[in-house]
Amino acid sequence: MSAQNPIPTQRAISASGQSPKGGSNLIISFVKRSPAEAGAIAVFVPQSGQWPGVADALNRTSGGQLQRACRTTRFSAAVAEVCDVLAPSGITASRVLIVGLGEPRQAGAAEFERIGGTLCAHLLCSGETTLTVETTGLEGTALEPAAIAARIAFGARLRAYRFDRYRTAESELSKPTLAKVSVVTRLVNACQSKFNRLEAVAAGVFMARDLVSEPGNVLFPKAFTARIQTLTANGVRVQVLGEKKLKQLGFGALLGVSQGSAHEPQVVICEYDGTRAKRPRPPIVLAGKGVTFDSGGISIKPSAGLETLKQDMGGAASVVGVIKTLAMRKARCHVVGICGLVENMPSGSAQRPGDVVTSLSGKTIEVINTDAEGRLVLCDIMWYAQERYRPKVVIDMATLTGAIVIALGQEFAGLFCNDTQLATQLIRAGSDTGDRLWQYPMGAAYDKHLTSLIADMKNLGPNEGRSIIAAHFIKRFVQDDVAWAHVDFGGMVWSEEDTALSPKGATGFGVRLLDQLIATHYEQH
Ligand code: BES
Ligand code: MN
Ligand code: ZN
Repeated sequence: MSAQNPIPTQRAISASGQSPKGGSNLIISFVKRSPAEAGAIAVFVPQSGQWPGVADALNRTSGGQLQRACRTTRFSAAVAEVCDVLAPSGITASRVLIVGLGEPRQAGAAEFERIGGTLCAHLLCSGETTLTVETTGLEGTALEPAAIAARIAFGARLRAYRFDRYRTAESELSKPTLAKVSVVTRLVNACQSKFNRLEAVAAGVFMARDLVSEPGNVLFPKAFTARIQTLTANGVRVQVLGEKKLKQLGFGALLGVSQGSAHEPQVVICEYDGTRAKRPRPPIVLAGKGVTFDSGGISIKPSAGLETLKQDMGGAASVVGVIKTLAMRKARCHVVGICGLVENMPSGSAQRPGDVVTSLSGKTIEVINTDAEGRLVLCDIMWYAQERYRPKVVIDMATLTGAIVIALGQEFAGLFCNDTQLATQLIRAGSDTGDRLWQYPMGAAYDKHLTSLIADMKNLGPNEGRSIIAAHFIKRFVQDDVAWAHVDFGGMVWSEEDTALSPKGATGFGVRLLDQLIATHYEQH
């Protein structure tokens, strides 16, 4: 319990003008008239038909150079395709980015986010410091004009994220230069208010990315608790159950996972109530797996890739991130987040394979494999939350099984659900936000594999259907009449490559999904 936290003192501002906060540093504004005399200008063109006014005017000024450049590079004007014309003649801007709109009628929120993200990625370290995006005169798109500008800005914000906390030396060439994005629109106020709401989403996504990016020596359970406690500044009620309390209460399954670690386990509850109701209504419960490092325990993992297991707290990160978003945008909903924070380590005091533990619910569990630890954490925190808050809806978020990564790769998370309506709502929220979900089947034939010879159940069945059997383990701790969903997203928490909205690394998966679900179905308007 004497762990040292080796965070270097944060350098206030680095030479490039970027603070360690990275993406939240980009200055984004909406303006009525183009301020661009220097810097980069982006203009849109549809896949077919005439170039719209702004693009056409610039092309004429350049003596047709822009269109010649597009023809030279086989530019097809597909969505978010960019033709970068450097030092165009007759134009003061340093470059004009011709941006494809595809078929405008099919360009919705996701497409404009992707465009904003792509432009940001293109210029972030290019030497360019300012970008002006011209959105006036765009016609026939699937999205209203104010939303177009806001979504472009949101995409740029999400893609500008950096986790630079531990760099002490970075070459000038790899430092970000882009500092300012101005989106030109006639509807400055409407854009700004739409964007303010999206800024809250980005802040939650960034909080989740920061937590997932932190190494295990820095983000052990108590350090995670300290990060969650910062949410009190946003009006979130944070309560912490330490080891002593967890023992008193009987969190036997969770404590068994933690007992080999030098770090004290923590269960943290963060409650946000924006309903202004006199008598509080039952909340939605969001439960997050927060294994700050999963070595496997005595059932230790092979060493290859072990460093990636610092990400095993991605479930808790998504829960904390969305609570931050909801609180920042003052959502009119009542949500309780509960995070089970432990480190799974081997040691002389570690749990053994074959041990039997008594969960908070009273049910006993034979621990066949100490590496199937996530379910042992979730079963206790979910039971506690149900007993205490009597929710009608419980969603757990977890990097629970490697099998889900094998099955779905980095494209979808697995969804397991006992309620058709909740499943439909979640799948829709997933496709709207890009945090996509694929529903798995469930049934008694899977559940029976959890039968133990000496206890009420065991924590591991056969290899076949592993993700589904894991979901059944959790389902055994879901109370009657609770609509429950389990999101298993080990493949989504981290990206091995840059994407349009996220640089390589922690993705913040789950924050947008849950925010969208709550906004559409669990918020009073
Ligand atoms: N957290 C892991 C699952 C995981 C691993 C997710 C890598 C994402 C990336 C989980 O606790 C685990 O270890 N699962 C094992 C259990 C098995 C060895 C009993 C699995 O699914 O392979
Ligand atoms: Mn494990
Ligand atoms: Zn794990």
